[in-house]
Amino acid sequence: MDILKQVKEKGFVTAELEKEKNLIDEIARLKKEKNAIILAHYYQQEDIQDIADYIGDSLGLAQEAAKTTADVIVFAGVHFMGETAKILNPTKKVIIPDLNAGCSLADSAPTDKFEAFLKNYPNHTVISYINCSAEIKALSDIICTSSNAVKIVDSLPKDEKIIFAPDINLGRYVAKKTGRDLVLWDGACEVHVEISSAKLKLLQGKYPNAKLIAHPECQQEVLDEADFIGSTTALLKFVEEDESTEFIVATEVGIIHKMKQAVPHKTLIPAPANTNNTCACSECPYMKLNTLEKIHASLVHLQPEIFVPEETRFKALKSVNRMLEMSIPS
Ligand code: 13P
Ligand code: SF4
Repeated sequence: MDILKQVKEKGFVTAELEKEKNLIDEIARLKKEKNAIILAHYYQQEDIQDIADYIGDSLGLAQEAAKTTADVIVFAGVHFMGETAKILNPTKKVIIPDLNAGCSLADSAPTDKFEAFLKNYPNHTVISYINCSAEIKALSDIICTSSNAVKIVDSLPKDEKIIFAPDINLGRYVAKKTGRDLVLWDGACEVHVEISSAKLKLLQGKYPNAKLIAHPECQQEVLDEADFIGSTTALLKFVEEDESTEFIVATEVGIIHKMKQAVPHKTLIPAPANTNNTCACSECPYMKLNTLEKIHASLVHLQPEIFVPEETRFKALKSVNRMLEMSIPS
């Protein structure tokens, strides 16, 4: 929660708040000293979102990384996001607060298996979701995110043969929306597939007027019930613009923070997951590895740094740039 808000609510400053304030001040000082920018995904902890220079979905973050003039990019997200920033900015330092912040979806497409898979489908255009490694990006023709996947597939000639990887749920959704027959890689996000459609039905019984909004990484049975499907930015926009006042939000719980700030008068209910975790919601364990303390340490030491071998980077840049060119608002 916003630190000033907490001080106002309590009416006094606790030692813990004082410590957090000092940490935030020190991060701001280091950012200035090192000409650094902090980019954060909506799934980051609230205190990280509150100090970020830019918060966004995967597309917004890639676009922001492409245009920054900072010397150092601190990517408060997961490894593939830092890699994308490095692919776009080979001369800048890209650091992530915790090198262990990976992604189950990116891990579901190992390079050797993917390369062998591609050999079965010659003459196919390879469209890969940005949630993949730099090596997979280098093997792809076009990168997409959940914001632009439908638009990118739709922009290709109707008879073009397409492989869509690595997320099978997003792939099925795009195939349905575009009416295309896509060859799908069988990968998934361990966080979104755990959103339970059985528990969702119970929740919908409790909140009969709530609209169900879902991220396309969710399983088909969840998407089939959704009133709206979109990327994290699209979900945020939907709760802002839709006239309803109650929403069940089927994606990682971090997005609720921005939603609450945008529409404090609306009721936002995180979708329940099958996993028995503390929040009884959907939490990405990789995104949540990042903390303010780790951001501070990464700014002090300018580490851990992301590196991408030049040959891989050069090939991956082509597919990332194709996405950025195709995502310019018309
Ligand atoms: P978007 O940022 O495109 O909404 O995707 C969500 C996600 O899973 C990021 O890892
Ligand atoms: Fe990867 Fe899923 Fe976490 Fe996003 S939410 S970073 S896709 S594991």
